Amino acid sequence: MLLTWLLVTAHFAHVLALENGLMRVPPMGWMTWERFRCNVDCTNNSKNCISERLILDIADRLVKDGWRELGYNYVNIDDCWMAKERNKEGRLVPDPGRFPSGIKALADYVHSRGLKLGIYADLGNKTCADYPGTTLDKVELDAKTFAEWHVDMLKLDGCYSTSKEQAKGYPRMSKALNATGRLIGYSCSWPAYQGGLPPKVNYSQLKQICNLWRNYDDIEDSWASVLKVIDWFAENQNVLQPMAGPGHWNDPDMLVIGNFGLSFEEAKSQMAFWALLAAPLFMSNDLRTISKEAREILQNRLLIKINQDPLGIQGWRILKEISEIEVHFRPLSNSASALLFFSRRTDMPLHYSTSLRHLNFTGWSVYKAHDVYSRKVVNGLRINTNFTVVVNPSGVVMWYLIPIKPLTL
Ligand SMILES: *[C@@H]1O[C@H](CO)[C@@H](O)[C@H](O)[C@H]1NC(C)=O
Ligand SMILES: *[C@@H]1O[C@H](CO)[C@@H](O)[C@H](O)[C@H]1NC(C)=O
Ligand SMILES: *[C@@H]1O[C@H](CO)[C@@H](O)[C@H](O)[C@H]1NC(C)=O
Ligand SMILES: *[C@@H]1O[C@H](CO)[C@@H](O)[C@H](O)[C@H]1NC(C)=O
Repeated sequence: MLLTWLLVTAHFAHVLALENGLMRVPPMGWMTWERFRCNVDCTNNSKNCISERLILDIADRLVKDGWRELGYNYVNIDDCWMAKERNKEGRLVPDPGRFPSGIKALADYVHSRGLKLGIYADLGNKTCADYPGTTLDKVELDAKTFAEWHVDMLKLDGCYSTSKEQAKGYPRMSKALNATGRLIGYSCSWPAYQGGLPPKVNYSQLKQICNLWRNYDDIEDSWASVLKVIDWFAENQNVLQPMAGPGHWNDPDMLVIGNFGLSFEEAKSQMAFWALLAAPLFMSNDLRTISKEAREILQNRLLIKINQDPLGIQGWRILKEISEIEVHFRPLSNSASALLFFSRRTDMPLHYSTSLRHLNFTGWSVYKAHDVYSRKVVNGLRINTNFTVVVNPSGVVMWYLIPIKPLTL
């Protein structure tokens, strides 16, 4: 049944999705916002202000510390890069003090390092942080400007616009980007401004115009915020899950791993959920000072492989136990799958005993499970085999599960 469902969705996905060919797997990279916000004080805080220096530093780290090889290849500037006014031709220009070389030169540098450059604009009277907005009459001009600068991705935010303007502007920008002839990945904040759910949000339309979209609130540097996002995605999975696929992704927002708000267990949980959800993996942290522990979580190859699975099927919650353990599942290519055991407990590690049958697996395969964090391997799992995982408070155990004997259909 799963197979039939896949073939059907694959068929329609071809007809209905945005056809720029980009982001066939979730995009990966780095973004300024969550960590560096709108820090424009380069006088007192030259290393941490939104500036070309920050972008160059991060681009260098992405290359030198192995991030690029793992797939983290976008370096994205969020709000606060602009000068306070458009120029005489009505064009957006970068703040001359903080981006003295201009965006084109920055893009050239980033490209020379084998990376891509993302930029930010806001459909509306001004950006969320009060910089020049992209009003409806400026959509084509701004698309043209970004293409001329050789930008590779645009996040279009939605502060200071009405829902009517958004309904016109987001599709218009999609057309305008296409008309430039440059391949530019398109991230739409539109649904986040409309509550993230139908009937206000038309996901069929979003799939046709955007490569990714922010469904829900901005993430913050705290476990409460990360958990709120995780829960919202699980609660609304029936609506959201079918909308994700190659070229068009739900975006639960940035990875805050490596900052101040998450414990070690919580950081592992965020990474595991983002892999499960086929989420874009945009880190927002300081790669110049990141700890070894955080780096190991973000560079976990098996988790990245799960996230980047070519089928691009978003995972979902399959069980909520009264023991406050949740089990989530994601189907992967080659009959593999990911199983995520998550503990909402706040007391002590829980020994959770279950079987694949209890988790709705069927058939006669024998499975091998790779624990993505401990790297332990469990062999010879049959449907009825009882097994136990030990899940820490606010923590996860995540398995990459492969059938070692073919499915007998
Ligand atoms: C630098 O810090 C001083 C003292 O806090 C402040 O008065 C000044 O405005 C800051 N400079 C900039 C460019 O924000
Ligand atoms: C945008 O600016 C126009 C002109 O000043 C104003 O009439 C309109 O209310 C503003 N829209 C929003 C959503 O702020
Ligand atoms: C523009 O859209 C068409 C299909 O509608 C697609 O074939 C083409 O690759 C797109 N070009 C760009 C630059 O996005
Ligand atoms: C949603 O968008 C699609 C594609 O643009 C359109 O065909 C459909 O009528 C829209 N649905 C609603 C409920 O507006």
